Amino acid sequence: MSAGSTGRTLQTDQGASYAGILGIGAYRPARVVPNSEIVDAIDSSDEWIQQRSGIKTRRFADDSETIVAMSVAASRDALAAAGVDPRQVECVIVATVSHLMQTPSAATAVAHELGTDGAAAFDVSAACAGFCHGIGLASDLVRGGSARYVLVIGVERLSDITSRTDRGTAFIFADGAGAALIGPSDTPAIGPVVWGSDGEQKQYDLIRSRQDWRDVLVADEPVMPHLTMQGNEVFRWASFAMAKVALQTLDRSGITVDELDCFVPHQANNRITDAMARSMKLPAHVKIARDIVDSGNTSAASVPLALERMMRDGDAKSGDVALLIAFGAGLSYAAQVVTIP
Ligand SMILES: CC(C)(COP(=O)(O)OP(=O)(O)OC[C@H]1O[C@@H](n2cnc3c(N)ncnc32)[C@H](O)[C@@H]1OP(=O)(O)O)[C@@H](O)C(=O)NCCC(=O)NCCS
Repeated sequence: MSAGSTGRTLQTDQGASYAGILGIGAYRPARVVPNSEIVDAIDSSDEWIQQRSGIKTRRFADDSETIVAMSVAASRDALAAAGVDPRQVECVIVATVSHLMQTPSAATAVAHELGTDGAAAFDVSAACAGFCHGIGLASDLVRGGSARYVLVIGVERLSDITSRTDRGTAFIFADGAGAALIGPSDTPAIGPVVWGSDGEQKQYDLIRSRQDWRDVLVADEPVMPHLTMQGNEVFRWASFAMAKVALQTLDRSGITVDELDCFVPHQANNRITDAMARSMKLPAHVKIARDIVDSGNTSAASVPLALERMMRDGDAKSGDVALLIAFGAGLSYAAQVVTIP
């Protein structure tokens, strides 16, 4: 029986013709941690870390810089930049893998503390790709009429779930928050999302928590299930497969590499960024995000933090066309072309 055959037709919402990023905000924890503070515990050197990853310093959050507090601070900046009141926000999406409370979500607390009028709120678990998943969702919510203004936040306290003595991860992962306010736009300002996953066991295991919580609890001396990563394999996957996804994303938005102004890849490793730029044949005029040098890899927060930095430094100007792409544990990835607000 078709829906219409009973004579009852459901009413639906219709949203804005187009969506765009209206404002960007960031919160960087106060404590700056140089490589010199990391190296002894992992028998490494400042030179090795800089050469292999590009990282010079990163930031670690203190006890007061919680997932919720950092999210609220970044969101206030994004709202102020857009000139939108928190009560106008109808949905809050928090992308994170380091909110250490199984339930409820961080997003409902963020929506409350921001002073929204009971906005819909939920967390997204897509690791480093979480923020770009959120932008894709928010764009469709605005265009579908489900929400007029949507806050998308990428936030992490990876220092809580990274072992200080693990050579493969201790120097990479860090903390911070970035936020974007998505709302109606007169012109197309967020292109189609290109996203996907590869959860085959071998890939699923490349970046993961060391243990399931149930295994932690039966251990004689329970320890935090830290992140573990097979760096070499991740490096190869990210450098080659993600360059193809980046080109597909440009194609879906009808933008050529020559028309691109800014490239904002997940800040995983400067060498991955270089490999992607080479394989995409990015022209010299395209500005490339390098926030990893001072921020490390902040997973879901890395793309919005890098974008905020480029805008603040004048490398990304209003009206510029930027390619966002993020990838990580899952494996999962998401990318889209956006116009800088
Ligand atoms: C982690 C990463 C920087 C390691 O670099 P790499 O070149 O792959 O390093 P390898 O593991 O092959 O090790 C190379 C050498 O460095 C040594 N090494 C490994 N970690 C080290 C460290 N922290 N400090 C000093 N030396 C180290 C190894 O022992 C090895 O020495 P050997 O050649 O004498 O055996 C790199 O694999 C990487 O960046 N991967 C991607 C990570 C990433 O982007 N993650 C986030 C995705 S969301």
